[in-house]
Amino acid sequence: MSYGKGWLAYHKIKTEKNDSRQISIQKLCSFLTVRAKGKIIDTAVEEYRTAAEQILGITVTVNERGSSVSKQPAVPGVIFELTEKAPDLKKDGFRIFFAENQLFLSANTESGLLYAVFELARRMMDGIYLPDLDITTNPAMNLRMINHWDNMDGSIERGYSGNSFFFKEGQILHSDRIHAYVRLMASIGINAIVINNVNVHERESYLITDKYLDSLKKYADVFAAYGIQLYICVNFAASIDIGSLPTADPLSGDVISWWQDTVRHIYDIVPELGGFVVKADSEGRPGPFTYGRTQADGANMLGRALKPYGGLLIWRCFVYNCGQDWRDRKTDRAKASYDYFKDLDGSFEENVILQIKNGPMDFQIREPVSPLFGGLKNTNSILEVQIAGEYTGQQKDVCYLVPMWKEILEFETYAFSDKDKSSTVRDIVSGNAFRNINCGMAGVTNTGNDYNWTGNDLAAVNLYGYGRLCFCPDMTAEQIAREWITMTLSSDSQVMNTVTNILMHSRSTYEKYTVPLGIGWMVTPHSHYGPDVDGYEYDKWGTYHRADRNGLGVDRTKKGTGFTAQYNEPNASMYNNMDTCPEELLLFFHRVRYDKVLKTGKTLIQHIYDTHFEGVEEVKNMRKEWAALENKIPEDVFRRVGERFEMQMQNAVEWRDRINTYFYRMSGAKDEKGRKIY
Ligand code: GCU
Repeated sequence: MSYGKGWLAYHKIKTEKNDSRQISIQKLCSFLTVRAKGKIIDTAVEEYRTAAEQILGITVTVNERGSSVSKQPAVPGVIFELTEKAPDLKKDGFRIFFAENQLFLSANTESGLLYAVFELARRMMDGIYLPDLDITTNPAMNLRMINHWDNMDGSIERGYSGNSFFFKEGQILHSDRIHAYVRLMASIGINAIVINNVNVHERESYLITDKYLDSLKKYADVFAAYGIQLYICVNFAASIDIGSLPTADPLSGDVISWWQDTVRHIYDIVPELGGFVVKADSEGRPGPFTYGRTQADGANMLGRALKPYGGLLIWRCFVYNCGQDWRDRKTDRAKASYDYFKDLDGSFEENVILQIKNGPMDFQIREPVSPLFGGLKNTNSILEVQIAGEYTGQQKDVCYLVPMWKEILEFETYAFSDKDKSSTVRDIVSGNAFRNINCGMAGVTNTGNDYNWTGNDLAAVNLYGYGRLCFCPDMTAEQIAREWITMTLSSDSQVMNTVTNILMHSRSTYEKYTVPLGIGWMVTPHSHYGPDVDGYEYDKWGTYHRADRNGLGVDRTKKGTGFTAQYNEPNASMYNNMDTCPEELLLFFHRVRYDKVLKTGKTLIQHIYDTHFEGVEEVKNMRKEWAALENKIPEDVFRRVGERFEMQMQNAVEWRDRINTYFYRMSGAKDEKGRKIY
């Protein structure tokens, strides 16, 4: 299958506005001196050449290589150098600055230099005068990970843009596309990629055997040239399923030895492997609970096996009872992760990292932050977000997620008794709060083998934005959007303003026409696209809205399920009290009557009606704004996105009418504005 270049589809820019400046950018960039050696340096040189040739239209002469070359070239040029001298550089950070007629790209790791090249390419695309550059950038997070939910049959769990480009019919694919993909990922700072689904089925259990290790080694090499480590998801019960042992008990000596031998063998063949990711005791996956052991027992056993090779063990906290009786109002799925993991804080090995979903439920359009952030203080944690649009429009509806991730990162968890000391999620996952090295972010990706990688061309901004955010969480959502638009679509001001406007409003629009005020779900079971208010109401998944003729919402206060008590103060009290609870989360935390007057002065029921009518109008406007871009952006992109807006329109209308009708019938309350409700 052919593929596009995404945000690396560089094109030649006009540099006339710089022509009157002292130094010709073309001349400056034609001459490259490389004062370093290494595989990733070679990649950096190639990437530099590609960017300079395609953006500036020049041919690059690479002058000298090796760290011993320290003499300054006589002519203006670009210098790559590895330096240990720069005290303000952290691992993988870089500096770009101009001195003595030379544009320096300097870093203290090879990856840092590669990131500097991609940064320079972005600046070139911006058309700025490069000698003005003086940038020092350090990645905020150490682990900047992508999770693929790709299966070896070629399907992708929650994939909305074709099939896997890693796997097909049980085989590992080796194609140019892998290289193209790895370039895209490195360009946004990704340094870890997990290639297979967290749900490790029978076939994928064999990824750790000789059947596939040579193939994995090839991937590891392609990845490593771009500073990326390969990770795989493993089956916790592999000792039974492929090892023929009678047990997977993490405290059994046989199981421990089996994993030690297996891991040793894997690292003999794939020494570059980053480590394993495990989903255990969750949604039918095996885990330590079967043997009466804790999550720490399970994770530490695997962590210890990986330790001698520098491997990391990433253990997901998405553990809950997925066989709940809907009649049971005491059990609250939102509480499960914290209940299972909080007391284990401090008992994990150093190379074990807990991967925590952003919210306590499951990637809904609005959820509070998981109370495990701020609850765990002595455990490495990474924040898991979903780039794929499972519950956010499935890459048919446009929904820019960076604003949501920024809200999550900026959430203050009040982990310290000194309330002035900052412990935002960002502080925690960038290692500043508790001085952890092994932390960062993991994003469940939205890619597939569609030509444009992400189904909806506009959904690529989420993938791009995810990487940029892990690296530079100081960037605003709008800056990231604008950067992506410049790199991918055009820097024409009409395109820039229209697309920025569409993206920046898209999440709020999506939220308006779907589920109100944080209650979540109400989606079609299994597919999770489109409305079905009661679809999960009488089911086993712990995802209820509890609507009746008086009101809706789940009472998660101390009088209800007690979930609010999992937060540190003052968050616990804030959420516990209906008057201080942020209104966008009202129905997540409280059971509310339809006639309750909200801060806007509207009743809850009127709020539901109004937002649903507004949401549809907003989609109509977005569709119109997009239509005005004809001939301003590539024709194929224009057409594809236009088609998606038609699907979004239908979806929005369906949501509006189903939600409004459902609550009208439940409450009997008329719409004040007398609009059509069925
Ligand atoms: C969601 C999703 C599943 C996935 C699970 C997980 O529930 O619908 O497909 O396996 O999350 O994160 O493990």
